[in-house]
Amino acid sequence: MFNKLKRKSKKVAWDSEKLPRHIAIVLDGNGRWATKRALPRTAGHAAGAETFRKVATYCKNIGIEFLTVYAFSTENWKRPPDEVSKIMELLEKYLHEALEKMERDRVKMKFIGDISVLSPKLKALIAETEEVSKRFDGVQVNICLNYGSRDEILRAVDTYAKSLLRFSEYSDNINQGIISTQPSLTEESFSNLLYTANIPDPDLVIRPSGEYRLSNFLLWQSAYSEFYFTDVLWPDFNEKELDQAILTYQKRDRRFGGI
Ligand code: FPP
Repeated sequence: MFNKLKRKSKKVAWDSEKLPRHIAIVLDGNGRWATKRALPRTAGHAAGAETFRKVATYCKNIGIEFLTVYAFSTENWKRPPDEVSKIMELLEKYLHEALEKMERDRVKMKFIGDISVLSPKLKALIAETEEVSKRFDGVQVNICLNYGSRDEILRAVDTYAKSLLRFSEYSDNINQGIISTQPSLTEESFSNLLYTANIPDPDLVIRPSGEYRLSNFLLWQSAYSEFYFTDVLWPDFNEKELDQAILTYQKRDRRFGGI
């Protein structure tokens, strides 16, 4: 069945039965968007937060199951302190509004990354948002905050190594044949040690703003994702751009290493 969406000048039609389950987006280009308009960079982040709201609503309406956005990386702390504070303020504002409109929007929200270093206020808002929204079963929106894929992988390896250490305490039992098997790591069990445990890998990764790199975003999870790059700056991204990305995705031949 084809879902025809009438736009101002042209029709965009994607197949509603072949939608990506999980779309991941690098929110990029906010600073350039603002600079082009002689505005402070932080105005670009505010506009970017509004675009995120719009795109998340659209994903929910068209039946996308998971939307993951890269909002703040482990490397973004290198930015001027004023800009970092403004992004954190915007997140607080966004979460306050999300909590107020939770019953109307019914979007499940999850935060991915090391949130332990965030302010107590932001951590409390994150905990409340996750708790209140966990009963919703439409789209799940994952916000990556203080997230870096290498950091995520190192943490998983560390957890696994520590589990082996605990296991070796029982080496006597192994020697006596009481415990005969060593823990073995599989792709599935390793995935379950990542922040994204229980979230399917992204089918489609979108990076706006004309940059062609992953920047430490979902390196493990995107092994077989389809990539879509566009020159549009994130604050200018909209439903029509997402339609275009989905259409492009649907034309790809996903073989996962087969033929
Ligand atoms: C990248 O653009 C954007 C960020 C590092 C911050 C994104 C944060 C928000 C949109 C704030 C709120 C987020 C949510 C999810 C509510 P850039 O600054 O690197 O742009 P540039 O490459 O043009 O400089």
